[in-house]
Amino acid sequence: MISLAGGLPDPALFPTIELSVIAQRILAERGREVLQYGETAGSPILRERFAAALPGVVADDVIITTGSQQGLDLIARTILDDGDMVVVGDPEYLGALQVFRTHGAHLQSVPVDADGLDVDHLEYQLVGGLRPKACYIVANFHNPTGASMSRARRLQLAALADRYGFLVIEDDPYRDIFFDAAPVSPECENPNRYVRLRSVSKTLSPGLRVGAMAVPRWLLEPVVIAKQSCDLHTSTVSQAIAADAMAASWYPPHLAEIRSVYRTKRDVLIRALEIEFAGRLSFSTPAGGMFLWVDLDAGDTMALLPKALEQGMCFVPGEAFGLPTHRSSWARLSFATASAEDLVEGVGRLAAATK
Ligand SMILES: Cc1ncc(COP(=O)(O)O)c(C=O)c1O
Repeated sequence: MISLAGGLPDPALFPTIELSVIAQRILAERGREVLQYGETAGSPILRERFAAALPGVVADDVIITTGSQQGLDLIARTILDDGDMVVVGDPEYLGALQVFRTHGAHLQSVPVDADGLDVDHLEYQLVGGLRPKACYIVANFHNPTGASMSRARRLQLAALADRYGFLVIEDDPYRDIFFDAAPVSPECENPNRYVRLRSVSKTLSPGLRVGAMAVPRWLLEPVVIAKQSCDLHTSTVSQAIAADAMAASWYPPHLAEIRSVYRTKRDVLIRALEIEFAGRLSFSTPAGGMFLWVDLDAGDTMALLPKALEQGMCFVPGEAFGLPTHRSSWARLSFATASAEDLVEGVGRLAAATK
């Protein structure tokens, strides 16, 4: 089975030797410290490391989380009451939809196009009386579309958040996997209105379960209390490993390698699709991340999936990322996990399934 479905990093890119050296050193030299309980908000040094990469944010504004998924859950359980409205993209990352639904939110979807969330559409709804508590965005290399929000839309969203008084939850696990320029967040984004989620899952290892959230001051204490009742704190061992790895001299070249490998695999996948489907599908080329979002001219991709499985490949049908009946001819293909050879073979099998 060749899977282009999962959002798993390429395991060949895990820095296994480097992390094992760090882990051994930490346990040998600081074992009694890192095997002990830690602070709920996270290790001070790791909070500093994340803050350093977030303009206008200091370590005290950062809470270390058990992956960015926990950051999503913590913010949802802290701010949402039953029936509160949360704006999400259509399509949107399934894990976020699940969290908001679990905490009783009413989801209002706004289309995502090649420039990210359609903020004009949101503004139209706000003018019409929509009053969300929060708006969830994956502004950089969105899952599943691969789209990044244009600067104009980011500025417009920041202004709307101020005018209508909602929180922006910016989930950003793919920001370091850029293929052209590094993403930038406009300075006008009001720190009192933005929650920023970060993660090392796509750059170091998802198994470490280390992420971070930068929250407005007024939310710090309630989020820390929520985290305390969830897990007391994120693994102290994982935090210590992540902190050392992020400061290691090999880390910047490691990030550069991930970008280069994924960029090449993105191009392999696109080339294979162009050859196999010749004009029978459309997509926008993602400038980073792990996903290609394609409109297959093959009817319903949910119905196509069993045929693809019979051929020995799988993908995620578009319907998984939003309301049923939406996006039914779309599919998400990941170019991150499979090897270049498997990407080509997988596309061949997908084409066979459509015939
Ligand atoms: C948009 C988005 N947010 C959050 C996550 C979860 O990441 P983590 O491993 O940091 O919990 C993912 C994982 O695929 C994702 O795509």
